Amino acid sequence: MGPIPLYILLLVTVLTVVVAVTTEENRVDDQYTWPQWKVPLVRKRRTVPLSSPNFSAHPQQELSGTCGIECQRRLPSPSLNDLEQFLSYETVYENGTRTYTSISVHGLNEVTIRSKNTSSSSRHKRELYGTDTRFTIADKQYSTKYPFSTSVKISTGCSGVLVSPKHVLTAAHCIHDGKDYLDGVQKLRVGILKEKSRRGKGGKGRGGKEKGKRRKGGRGKEEALEKEENVGKGDTKGRGKGKKIRSRRSVDSGKPSFKWTRVKQTQIPKGWFKGVSNGLTADYDYAILELKRAPKVNYMDLGVIPSIKKLPAGRIHFSGFDDDRPGNLVYRFCSVSEESKDLLYQYCDAKPGSSGSGVYIRLKEPGKKKWKRKIIGVFSGHQWVDVNGDGMQQDYNVAVRITPLKYAQICYWVHGDSSECQVA
Ligand SMILES: *[C@@H]1O[C@H](CO)[C@@H](O)[C@H](O)[C@H]1NC(C)=O
Ligand SMILES: *[C@@H]1O[C@H](CO)[C@@H](O)[C@H](O)[C@H]1NC(C)=O
Ligand SMILES: *[C@@H]1O[C@H](CO)[C@@H](O)[C@H](O)[C@H]1NC(C)=O
Repeated sequence: MGPIPLYILLLVTVLTVVVAVTTEENRVDDQYTWPQWKVPLVRKRRTVPLSSPNFSAHPQQELSGTCGIECQRRLPSPSLNDLEQFLSYETVYENGTRTYTSISVHGLNEVTIRSKNTSSSSRHKRELYGTDTRFTIADKQYSTKYPFSTSVKISTGCSGVLVSPKHVLTAAHCIHDGKDYLDGVQKLRVGILKEKSRRGKGGKGRGGKEKGKRRKGGRGKEEALEKEENVGKGDTKGRGKGKKIRSRRSVDSGKPSFKWTRVKQTQIPKGWFKGVSNGLTADYDYAILELKRAPKVNYMDLGVIPSIKKLPAGRIHFSGFDDDRPGNLVYRFCSVSEESKDLLYQYCDAKPGSSGSGVYIRLKEPGKKKWKRKIIGVFSGHQWVDVNGDGMQQDYNVAVRITPLKYAQICYWVHGDSSECQVA
């Protein structure tokens, strides 16, 4: 990126403050419903074949030197040209071949502002990780039900989330180290938690004994865990203090097992590759995997939200397969500490293995009573983030946000047709 003319800077600044077009403005409960967005269009320019990758990279446990929110504030905003570069992408097929597709972006400037302030960068005091706020969802009664059932394991050691009947969103670093594809990518597989347990193994009274109990499924479980945690803390923001409820952190009854499905193709934005977007690499740590066969499991929609910290609880949720609890799905929620247009910092407890998890929030759809969960980010993982540009680093848990533009790109990857991707 060279010097950027002022008018482009101004244009981009305006564009980045993209806004929700809600039906009615300024009504209090409207602020708590999913906004509707008109998103830009991502169109394919052309696709060219590339040489097959070497598949020689090794998985990284932790990323360091990430240019985070503070560091990115000093960078010029990318121009439309830059954005088109960063969102152009590589596809790797099951047979090991690779293509490069350049894209164009349309209608960035048609995304207009409608009243709501979307920028938010008020600084909060740094929060410590404090108590471990993770819950193992070991009971299949819950882990194989929505929303937990949307979480999948990636064979390279990460997590991911189903965002269509057969597409998984994960982190780019789970597939590619910036220079090459990981050695496991040629035989990439995705594990979905199996509903049926093997018969006769510790299944005493299964079914019969539980008849009297109310079966609430995953949704009820998620809300119950959250409520329990809030009671313990007496704090709706979920901040560190308060009583620990460790004893109930693990809901155990039989280890889950996976059904593995092969990945047909993998797409990664060029912005992730070394030397392309420089300080903005962290913004492009996402990838889409298309499965060979659609598992019969619900998926979660993608969503775009202007500011999470301005929501009532400002709370995000995600579930993944943390390394320290092998084979178990681990659920957690927490408040966002800092957000920019492209990144989220939070101190949700998370271990390697949960990278790539889908970060979601719950809001109501206008006029509806029930929660609607949507994926608003991808968990990148614990990272050492450059804060001052002078080598000073701080550790954060970083997630990549789904911006309107990224929504458009991912939607295009999933549908192969940008006309289906005009409203988020
Ligand atoms: C693959 O490895 C060879 C030799 O190590 C190197 O010359 C080549 O550039 C690599 N190709 C890719 C696509 O990384
Ligand atoms: C590999 O798979 C892709 C997509 O299915 C196909 O277009 C391409 O021709 C295949 N290449 C080889 C060498 O089989
Ligand atoms: C938007 O933010 C500005 C200052 O940043 C404030 O003066 C204004 O009242 C806000 N508008 C709304 C609708 O919240």
